[in-house]
Amino acid sequence: MWRPPERIRWEPDPGIWPSADEAASARLFQPVNIGPIELESSTWVPAMVPWRATGDGEVTDNVLDWYGRFARGRPGAIVVEATGIRDIPSGPLLRIGDDRFIPGLTDLVETVRRESDGHTRLFIQLIDFLAVRRRPDPAKYFERFLEINQQHRDALGAADWPEETIRARLAELPEDELADTLTSRELEALHQGYRERVTDTGLPQIAELPAVLPDLFADAALRAREAGFDGVELHYAHAYTMASFLSALNSRVDGYGGSRENRARLPLEVYAAVRAAVGADFVVGTRFLAEDCIDGGNTVEDAAHFGAEFARAGFNVLSLSRGGKFEDAKRPAVGQAAYPYTGPSGYECMPQFISDARGPFGRNVAPVAAIRAAVREAGCDTPVVLTGGIHGFRQAEDILQADQADIIGFARQSLADPDWFRKVRSGHGDAVRVCEYTNYCEALDQKHVPVTCQLWDRKNLDEPGIAKTEDGKRRMTAPEWEPDES
Ligand SMILES: Cc1cc2nc3c(=O)[nH]c(=O)nc-3n(C[C@H](O)[C@H](O)[C@H](O)COP(=O)(O)O)c2cc1C
Ligand code: SF4
Repeated sequence: MWRPPERIRWEPDPGIWPSADEAASARLFQPVNIGPIELESSTWVPAMVPWRATGDGEVTDNVLDWYGRFARGRPGAIVVEATGIRDIPSGPLLRIGDDRFIPGLTDLVETVRRESDGHTRLFIQLIDFLAVRRRPDPAKYFERFLEINQQHRDALGAADWPEETIRARLAELPEDELADTLTSRELEALHQGYRERVTDTGLPQIAELPAVLPDLFADAALRAREAGFDGVELHYAHAYTMASFLSALNSRVDGYGGSRENRARLPLEVYAAVRAAVGADFVVGTRFLAEDCIDGGNTVEDAAHFGAEFARAGFNVLSLSRGGKFEDAKRPAVGQAAYPYTGPSGYECMPQFISDARGPFGRNVAPVAAIRAAVREAGCDTPVVLTGGIHGFRQAEDILQADQADIIGFARQSLADPDWFRKVRSGHGDAVRVCEYTNYCEALDQKHVPVTCQLWDRKNLDEPGIAKTEDGKRRMTAPEWEPDES
């Protein structure tokens, strides 16, 4: 992962924990309305992919254990990881692109209801993404993948050379000459692996996105409703299709790119289709970016505009993330795919303890506060979820007291200690296992292997009945917490 050059070491400091009485009167533990439903507290576990589904995207016992473990901590809401809306192979990513996924997802809902004793609401994040290929072996790229065209012939002065000779010549060219011979997209395909963009409207599957996505999202949302979820979160954040439509880098000229109004068109059409399918009594929220954090990408002003539009359209909740884009991702090793959390924008999404003068805690507070203010100015009381480096009670409570957000998301902190909510609410804050923001978990995510936390995954490995990773070296869920009532 990229780290800020300043390399300042930060330590999480949760500050003083509240007594049970103080917690009872805190904003953080007050109920909050989300459209048709109420969360019991203003706390939220944002989507985190743990790589526990089958290769076909089905719910497994390990998926149930993972969400059951979060549910026993009793946050106000849990958002199930990014779940693919298409019926296409997507590796061990959960899927909801066909009715056959409904029984597994129903088990998941029942598990969370049971393990939280009905205290935690459950949403599922719906995602669409475009094709990303692995970085090719350069020899194979020049031998097979690159399509030779007139531009290559002109650049090499090779009008009548046979194609194999051109391929062989290109394979020998030094980097600086390659840069003059290949287009920027061809160079990207060589160095990063080929990646589709929403602006590739010459490709039929990209041109037709505005025609197909509303129904795909709506059908997925209906399945979520049938499985018993309290609502869906439309994934309009990070490096994926919908965020790319919203981005200032989207220059489509078919009415779905360019101006803010055009960039918001498809996200609003998707929302309208989803709402028409699920009705008014089902939560429809979205996660989008407070800032793209890349050159030429969306600023907080763009996000404030979109936030107000989304709220006016009728989204029940707005959850803000930041960064996580392909545009500044590190060059992957040959045979690996680019990962959108490896560059500076990835750092903004999941900032680590080695940071800059701003530090890793609460980098999204000011942008989210500005977006929330724009939503309020638009006359909407839509709740806004703030996430990013939050681990202390005072830190979270101060944000709510200052009206900078309505709900606080704890991603890595709830992975480090899923009982954070129950411990703090019951006056046992001292027992919290505080996240150290090492990003060990994020490195596992990057490798697409089961995500665990280094603060607990080697603890009590001989405990009977616990699930472990295939090599037997890591437990899959955090040890249970038994409050000391003495
Ligand atoms: C292992 C892991 C997986 C994640 N998966 C998702 C995801 O599926 N969807 C999403 O919107 N964000 C995802 N995120 C980002 C988190 O939801 C959150 O925004 C980020 O970790 C910053 O919050 P934190 O500082 O509280 O961890 C993931 C984060 C981690 C660590
Ligand atoms: S591995 Fe654990 S301590 Fe490290 S960042 Fe992830 S959740 Fe926090």
